[in-house]
Amino acid sequence: MGLVERLDFRPNSKQEARPKQRQDKKGHRKWAEIDRYIVDRLVPSDPVLDAALRTSQAAGLPPINVSSNQGKLLMVLAQAVGARAILEIGTLGGFSTIWLARALTPGGRVITLEANPMHAKIARANVAHAGLADRVDMRLGKALDSLPTLAGEGPFDFIYIDADQENAANYFQWAVKLSRRGSLIVTDNVIRHGSIIDAENCKPAVQGLRRLYDLVAAEPKVSMTALQTVGSKGHDGFAIAVVTADQ
Ligand SMILES: C[S@@+](CC[C@H](N)C(=O)[O-])C[C@H]1O[C@@H](n2cnc3c(N)ncnc32)[C@H](O)[C@@H]1O
Repeated sequence: MGLVERLDFRPNSKQEARPKQRQDKKGHRKWAEIDRYIVDRLVPSDPVLDAALRTSQAAGLPPINVSSNQGKLLMVLAQAVGARAILEIGTLGGFSTIWLARALTPGGRVITLEANPMHAKIARANVAHAGLADRVDMRLGKALDSLPTLAGEGPFDFIYIDADQENAANYFQWAVKLSRRGSLIVTDNVIRHGSIIDAENCKPAVQGLRRLYDLVAAEPKVSMTALQTVGSKGHDGFAIAVVTADQ
């Protein structure tokens, strides 16, 4: 078992705070074991990614990166569309950024947006250590300030949204604007342990996700569905959209 999986096995700190989640503990353990089974076979231990998690942890970054099999899923999806231009919203320590940068076709580039200067600093170092600094362009600042500046740098073939869910719908609208027909837009954490259907939950993040679902339901330029996921990160999900019209 590599360091990546040992770190992935830690329960998500956001999730630990939820009393309802206690009942899921047994299921959580099994999901994590199954993730480990998958990773042992399909996601070989990787010193660069292990180091990225280690330095992120040492710097006190929250362990809210994707798991390693999810990171590989992002890479596979970006490879499937032959991505040359990738946009990521929410870098943290650069773990998912490294997966995405590895998917690039030759000459390609990842632009990744991060608001927290400490996260950006650690991510820059991790990306450099991964030998990917020449193809990763990090933009420090709030994503909603950075996104309007990217108009001349698209269209992006693959967009990964993984920042504050409060703004998920706003990010999605920007993602569509910065896309072309055939671009893939992946949004993370769209289930949040089922809280999206908890009528009593009116937290900004949950409301933000509901706005995303409502927005996409009425958006003719994309075809999207969402899938629940379980695993070392608990119960959550990805929304995957393809842009079906020219912008
Ligand atoms: C879930 S983490 C990203 C995890 C990363 N994609 C991974 O899997 O390795 C979310 C990140 O989004 C950043 N973030 C939150 N709000 C933001 C905003 N308004 N603009 C840009 N980044 C933001 C946070 O600082 C945090 O680093």
